[in-house]
Amino acid sequence: MEISHVKLVPVLLFILLNSVWCTTSNSISESFLQCFSSHIHSNSSSKIILTKHSSAYFSVLQSSIQNLRFLNTSTPKPEAIITPFKHSHVQAAVICSKKEGIQIRTRSGGHDYEGLSYVSTTPFIMIDLFELRSIDIDIENEIAWVESGATLGELYYAISQKSKVYGFPAGTCPTVGVGGQISGGGFGSLFRKYGLAADNVLDAKIVDVNGRVLDRKSMGEELFWAIRGGGGSSFGVILSWKLRLVPVPPTVTGYMESKTIEQGATKLVSKWQAIADRIPEGNFLRLVLQVANGTNGGKTIEVVFNFLFLETYEELLPWMKENFPELNLDQTVFTEMSWIESVLFLANFPINETEVLLRRTQQSRSFFKAKSDYVTEPISEAGLEGLYQRMLQLEASELILTPYGGRMSEISESEIPFPHRKGNLYEIQYYITWDDDKETEKHISWTRMVYGYMAAYVSTSPRAAYLNYRDLDLGTDKGANTSYAQASIWGLSYFKNNFRRLAQVKTLVDPGNFFRNEQSIPVLRSGEK
Ligand SMILES: Cc1cc2nc3c(=O)[nH]c(=O)nc-3n(C[C@H](O)[C@H](O)[C@H](O)COP(=O)(O)OP(=O)(O)OC[C@H]3O[C@@H](n4cnc5c(N)ncnc54)[C@H](O)[C@@H]3O)c2cc1C
Ligand SMILES: *[C@@H]1O[C@H](CO)[C@@H](O)[C@H](O)[C@H]1NC(C)=O
Ligand SMILES: *[C@@H]1O[C@H](CO)[C@@H](O)[C@H](O)[C@H]1NC(C)=O
Ligand SMILES: *[C@@H]1O[C@H](CO)[C@@H](O)[C@H](O)[C@H]1NC(C)=O
Ligand SMILES: *[C@@H]1O[C@H](CO)[C@@H](O)[C@H](O)[C@H]1NC(C)=O
Ligand SMILES: *[C@@H]1O[C@H](CO)[C@@H](O)[C@H](O)[C@H]1NC(C)=O
Repeated sequence: MEISHVKLVPVLLFILLNSVWCTTSNSISESFLQCFSSHIHSNSSSKIILTKHSSAYFSVLQSSIQNLRFLNTSTPKPEAIITPFKHSHVQAAVICSKKEGIQIRTRSGGHDYEGLSYVSTTPFIMIDLFELRSIDIDIENEIAWVESGATLGELYYAISQKSKVYGFPAGTCPTVGVGGQISGGGFGSLFRKYGLAADNVLDAKIVDVNGRVLDRKSMGEELFWAIRGGGGSSFGVILSWKLRLVPVPPTVTGYMESKTIEQGATKLVSKWQAIADRIPEGNFLRLVLQVANGTNGGKTIEVVFNFLFLETYEELLPWMKENFPELNLDQTVFTEMSWIESVLFLANFPINETEVLLRRTQQSRSFFKAKSDYVTEPISEAGLEGLYQRMLQLEASELILTPYGGRMSEISESEIPFPHRKGNLYEIQYYITWDDDKETEKHISWTRMVYGYMAAYVSTSPRAAYLNYRDLDLGTDKGANTSYAQASIWGLSYFKNNFRRLAQVKTLVDPGNFFRNEQSIPVLRSGEK
């Protein structure tokens, strides 16, 4: 939520590093470099491969790291960074890594909550797709092709340059990468009307474990199903997506007000919970619970009503009067605007500064830990009060409550791997930030403690979680031999009954488990099939 200012990080890739070939490096093997160079048919691979000796290595590595927990001297670093300009460069990276037996991590926007796109405890190469970010918008046919390295902000901006009445239903943070977000689901202000980003994918291009470029037809419907919500990193390197653009009204309306518990916020949260999944479809009425300064010098909890209506003030007013007469419904607190302006509104930017969407990095980065929960029954006022007491212990805590329902309830749980559909009132994201590494332990313990407390109020068997809010506390792969049963500990939380089918697809397309990480989809062994 705290997206205040962003700045451009200079692109430093074109520095020719002629030393790469002569340096005796113990970090990346000469044979890998030769393999790569011969596959891309070029002597200029030093522009595409950055080794630890390259002067641009560190600036590229840190450029899109969002979580400072994974940016310190003891964080394991990639042996090399590959920054492909062409799809054939990705193919070469996969073929040569496999041949040399070195792991790959793929990074698009770098927002992974646990850093899995750029950290691994086994030696690895990172493919950073930021040079592969072309966007091709076709308004007439209501489609777009977008490469994985593009950010959501770049995508939204490109659409707005072609039309004010089209949008795409993905997340609210403009710096998130298209590659990670869409392959893990992706939700934002349009999802109650049109579903997830992954629900609106028509085709995709992927480099598979054999280095082939496949599209929907050649990859087949099983793999195409898996990469729309199952996480791309278990299956290959996704190069690009063909998306269905969706119509948006010429005028939408934003609202932002806050009330403390002393001002009756708890009653409003209860009311909101009672109708969360039945809010008129298309309207996005999220709540943010946070610690604020009280009137008497102490701390209190405030609830921020952070709404986006896909209608005008005049159209939304009757419903708001009926459901939330306690809120300030004066027209002056509402902002009528175009959809693209609403993207800025929800990301806390001035709504006229559209160019901000082209900036790929956030200026202020912090340490953070996050977790997610799904709520299927309203939480009692006593339950909320217990939560407030715990939030007051850690002043920096923030919870984001996003209502489900609408289109989300109409799509079946097995349509794509993302299973959190009908029956969910809302999702909670616990998003805890801090600015000093000495505070890490305290904040992580607090987050775990609150998650323990909330167990009584949220979904169970499995306790569901959202893949894109990755949480390694749910369990991790213990190496090549993790069984399906072991992986189910986190797999069922993220995917419910879709987990087995994901493992079947994995077994089919990557039986050697080349594409893996701490929470990748396991290969089924003979006894498990
Ligand atoms: C500040 C912030 C705000 C967020 N807001 C939202 C939101 O509004 N809605 C929402 O749904 N989510 C949101 N997220 C979560 C976000 O969707 C996930 O973190 C997402 O995975 C990030 O994608 P990325 O490309 O930026 O990350 P990366 O770290 O680059 O990748 C994430 C994962 O996907 C894999 N991956 C990335 N690209 C590819 C590829 N091309 N092929 C195969 N695998 C790939 C990586 O290996 C990694 O496992 C937010 C995250 C942050 C940090
Ligand atoms: C690459 O370098 C070799 C030897 O330096 C040279 O013979 C060859 O023509 C070069 N290839 C290209 C594509 O530039
Ligand atoms: C440094 O990074 C590692 C992860 O790579 C993390 O486990 C560790 O806590 C970090 N150290 C500090 C002081 O933040
Ligand atoms: C709360 O009060 C502290 C001082 O006690 C101040 O530094 C801080 O900016 C205040 N926060 C807000 C959101 O007003
Ligand atoms: C946006 O509006 C503010 C005043 O409301 C103005 O100062 C600023 O220059 C505007 N920015 C752009 C890019 O037009
Ligand atoms: C995995 O299992 C195989 C066969 O069961 C065994 O040979 C191998 O050592 C195991 N690897 C690890 C890392 O445990």
